Amino acid sequence: PSAEAAELERTFIAIKPDGVQRGLISEIVSRFERKGYKLVAIKLVVPSKEFAEQHYYDLKERPFFNGLCEFLSSGPVLAMVWEGQGVIKYGRKLIGATDPQNSEPGTIRGDLAIIVGRNIIHGSDGLETAKNEINLWFKPEELVNYAHNSENWLY
Ligand code: TYD
Repeated sequence: PSAEAAELERTFIAIKPDGVQRGLISEIVSRFERKGYKLVAIKLVVPSKEFAEQHYYDLKERPFFNGLCEFLSSGPVLAMVWEGQGVIKYGRKLIGATDPQNSEPGTIRGDLAIIVGRNIIHGSDGLETAKNEINLWFKPEELVNYAHNSENWLY
């Protein structure tokens, strides 16, 4: 029964240009994969500055907004959708605190980043943002439906 509920929760995760350039794709993907989450979409894209501004629209009044959007659009980003029970909240836990100086060791940012402006990964912070971000970055047909081990062995 829980397998069906698990299909409902999805989050948008992106490895930012610094993470891609530093060769951290496999390291980061493996943490979500080993946990047992299901990858339902993945693509490498260079977002335009305008697209980055849409993605970070909620932060448009913040002083770091422009630099942040310049940074996000400065190179390839690995955009992904991950699915599983509690994946939005637990994905944020795997990622760690926004400022890597405060991220716990064992988290992605805690283990792999030093400053907030180069914190290597993005993850949706709630159900609504997850939906909006998935819609912004992916077309419906880019989300792949397939059976996954977690449905038998984790749930
Ligand atoms: P935010 O949505 O607050 O954090 P998170 O990525 O953990 O959800 O901020 C978005 C990004 O903006 C953050 O990952 C890095 C950048 N940022 C700064 O450069 N300086 C700052 O002071 C903050 C709060 C964020």
